[in-house]
Amino acid sequence: MYLKDKKIIVGITGSIAAYKAAVLVRLLKKQGAEVQVIMTADAHSFITPLTLATLSGRPVLTAYFDQESGQWYNHVELGLWADIMIIAPATANTIAKLANGLADNLLSAVYLSARCPVLVAPAMDLDMLKHPATRKNLETLKAFGNQIAAPGHGELASGLTGEGRLAEPEEIVRISEKYFSRRRAFAGKKVLITSGPTVEPFDPVRFVSNHSTGKMGYELAKAFNDAGADVTLVSGPVHLKSPDEDITIVRVQTALQMYNACRERVADADLVIFAAAVADYRPDDVLEYKMKKSEEVLQWQLRKNVDIARTLGAGKKEGQLMIGFALETDNEKENALKKLTGKNMDMIVLNSLQDEGAGFGHDTNKITVIEKDGTETPFVLKTKEQAAWDILSIVEKKWEN
Ligand code: CTP
Repeated sequence: MYLKDKKIIVGITGSIAAYKAAVLVRLLKKQGAEVQVIMTADAHSFITPLTLATLSGRPVLTAYFDQESGQWYNHVELGLWADIMIIAPATANTIAKLANGLADNLLSAVYLSARCPVLVAPAMDLDMLKHPATRKNLETLKAFGNQIAAPGHGELASGLTGEGRLAEPEEIVRISEKYFSRRRAFAGKKVLITSGPTVEPFDPVRFVSNHSTGKMGYELAKAFNDAGADVTLVSGPVHLKSPDEDITIVRVQTALQMYNACRERVADADLVIFAAAVADYRPDDVLEYKMKKSEEVLQWQLRKNVDIARTLGAGKKEGQLMIGFALETDNEKENALKKLTGKNMDMIVLNSLQDEGAGFGHDTNKITVIEKDGTETPFVLKTKEQAAWDILSIVEKKWEN
């Protein structure tokens, strides 16, 4: 949504991953961006200019001079035209050229002329990526202020497995969006978020836990990070990839570990969001060895865990904002209000398990935000990403007042 009407140069170089550039161009166009593709001559061996011209709706440029039309392409104009330049895939060769200021093709000349942010997405074999020369060149580009879209891990064209795969087009779009996100209002703000379930062991193989997937917490971390905040995510065990490399992730298992991780960091936070589904009880005894099956009926004593939100809420500092979640199955509002006041939160985000598509495991959520002063803002069923932005908007308004 941030890329509408943005002018984007997509530079494509000679890598087997060039086919993914077609998906990238399509995604950028879908967002309403104007896309100008510049390919190196080598890239033509991997994907045809016709495909990219069709997807971008503009002729693809490769050389300074077009023999057929007799047109000369001004690299300075192109460099000034762009709001962002994305080079994806970027080969080791092109990265070396950019790092050393070579201008022996249209793409590298436009790079030198560009005043806009540049995002470089490397794609190469793992050993090329590991080589000190490439490492040094990438460091040089970072020092120039360019951003590198970290290459992924997986099977490579060489048949080897390792780091070097082009970042996924969706990820490249997301990083690009960050340059234009409207809400840089959160720059300088520190946000601490708890997320996911906690697991409380009985013995080395068994535990008490819940169905939380951590999606809501991760979406919140992503939204606040995109909006310029400095985000720390204290996460119980989940199967989610880190939402962004700028986010600090502290991984924990138990409620006690989550509490300790938060206690150490809470003093610095401007905003704390308690999105974790903390296990309310933990086994009193934790066996060192795997429990053997014997009794017909097993009784195990559980002990109440620390209530992280309640404890940190009680010690809330002047100017700090705290948001809790309430996942309820009945008496929703009444229970949510009890949590809002009892835990000294400024807002509570209520979601009911009675609403279809809300709660654990879904990609969607239906939330109502209740503030301390009684203001209630109900939202319709949305993706968890959109729900995170709704919560962010309410915080933004609070901070503006
Ligand atoms: N919370 C917490 N630490 C706990 C339990 C809950 O920080 N030990 C936080 C949750 O992250 C959430 C809020 O408190 O923001 C409410 O959590 P919820 O599980 O809905 O409520 P509980 O207080 O545990 O009460 P109950 O399970 O009886 O509904």
